[in-house]
Amino acid sequence: MNTTDTLIPRPSHVEPLDAPAFTLNSTARIGATGPAVPVAGQLASLLRRSTGFALPIVEDTRPGDISLEVVETLDGGPEAYVLSVTEEGAKLAAATAAGLFNGVQTLRQLFPAAVEGAAPTDTTWVVPAVEIADAPRFAYRGLMLDVARSFFTVEEVKEQIDVMTQFKLNALHLHLTDDQAWRIEIHDPGSAGNPSGLPYAKLTGVGGQGAVEVSTAVPPRGNSGFYTQQDFRDIQAYAASKNVLVVPEIDLPGHVNAALAAIPQLNPDSQVKPMSTTAEVGWSTLTADLPATYEFVREVLNQLAAITDGPYLHIGGDEAHVTGHDDYVAMVQQFVQIGAETGKAVVGWNEFAAVDLPEGAVIQYWHGAFEPTVQQAEKGGSQVIMSPAANTYLDQKYDPASPIGLSWVEGGPFTWSEYYNWDPAQGGLNDQHILGVEGPLWTETVRNNQQAQWLLYPRAVSLAEVAWSGQEVRNAGDFRRRLGALGERLAQQGVVFQEAPDVEWSAASMWPFPEAGTSSTPEYGTIEA
Ligand code: ACM
Repeated sequence: MNTTDTLIPRPSHVEPLDAPAFTLNSTARIGATGPAVPVAGQLASLLRRSTGFALPIVEDTRPGDISLEVVETLDGGPEAYVLSVTEEGAKLAAATAAGLFNGVQTLRQLFPAAVEGAAPTDTTWVVPAVEIADAPRFAYRGLMLDVARSFFTVEEVKEQIDVMTQFKLNALHLHLTDDQAWRIEIHDPGSAGNPSGLPYAKLTGVGGQGAVEVSTAVPPRGNSGFYTQQDFRDIQAYAASKNVLVVPEIDLPGHVNAALAAIPQLNPDSQVKPMSTTAEVGWSTLTADLPATYEFVREVLNQLAAITDGPYLHIGGDEAHVTGHDDYVAMVQQFVQIGAETGKAVVGWNEFAAVDLPEGAVIQYWHGAFEPTVQQAEKGGSQVIMSPAANTYLDQKYDPASPIGLSWVEGGPFTWSEYYNWDPAQGGLNDQHILGVEGPLWTETVRNNQQAQWLLYPRAVSLAEVAWSGQEVRNAGDFRRRLGALGERLAQQGVVFQEAPDVEWSAASMWPFPEAGTSSTPEYGTIEA
């Protein structure tokens, strides 16, 4: 195997050295100071588990050690790193902890696959001699988890973060609200801040109980639950420790039935709507001429902004099919303003490009006419997250017989290759217009992390390479070979993946779905990790 056959996403510059390899042995240490120490700690935890070595973290290194160093500057931006492996040891340098984190993921992939094991194994821990200089093509490399259709616990979200970060994915968009449920606690602001007396606690009290129900999922009904504000902070802190930014979404002005079911004042007749489990979309809306609409949106976005560490607030904007066009523009124009007044940059699905966007707004393109997105980006002031459904939607079936997944996106079903063979710079957009790439996982048919992983992997790996690696170093045949090698690592980690039949996998998936025609076996929902 070549040195680069285990590296995924592919680095910008890799130079295998015709020199003796580095062997990590039991007396090795990890050198780090200042901001490098926490990252060194993460590397040490991984290596200690599989090697059984002590690997103390020290200030000065000697031959045989691994060193992590924060340097003044490095070409390629804050997430760039350089990694040099010789017989003497492995030296990693970056200008930030994020760069070091990325470099650690690369170093990890240079070790034998047994490095991913949960217990010490008797392996020779050889790392090939190599020089790597690497930096991302795009700053934003994300996944979206729809926790509204079916809830994922804090622990489940953390597990998803653990898996995605090895591919240098660095953004997690949480779709927190939809017709079926409301998943984020909003405190009652007290009477002074609540002129219309909106019962905010009902958002999770009522809306948190909801979930989707579809006959093709196992089990049919999604999971209920919600995040307290403290839970959200906890997810964010964990994510930050792994170089992941959390982007919370409140979907407005459509996809709001759970809010309408919780808060009577949001309805023109002041009567709460019934909760709904249907997977249908585009049938609910906020009302443009109700003052409570704006009061509600301001309170929710203010509270969410106050607990969000990252720069972005996602305000949805998609599929408002029962909102009249003028009402849509009137509401979303105010919502983007309210969002901007929180000090965050607003993000919206591409329908929201129909309004005048504030400076710094981000358009997430998913579907439909591309021109308004391109025009706003060309005008300056807005960047684009590319999530074209036919190249990024991770909820879609792999083939017609997939036991879970949806199939509404034209051109499908979709495998790793449709999500690999595309260039985000298209239709008039160049790299400067593009903040990055995101793969959404909608959860109409997904009920646990194993099912989620099966839909995510390997397609999310395709997206990670699209987002990280320059077009000039990407090649589908080469990628397919590296995917094959990845199988063993995912299996060691206990991560479920789809065994794409055109890939030569180095190991079987932990939990393959069976062949076509047997998809209704109910055990799916109860198998534990
Ligand atoms: C979407 O898929 N409705 C953004």
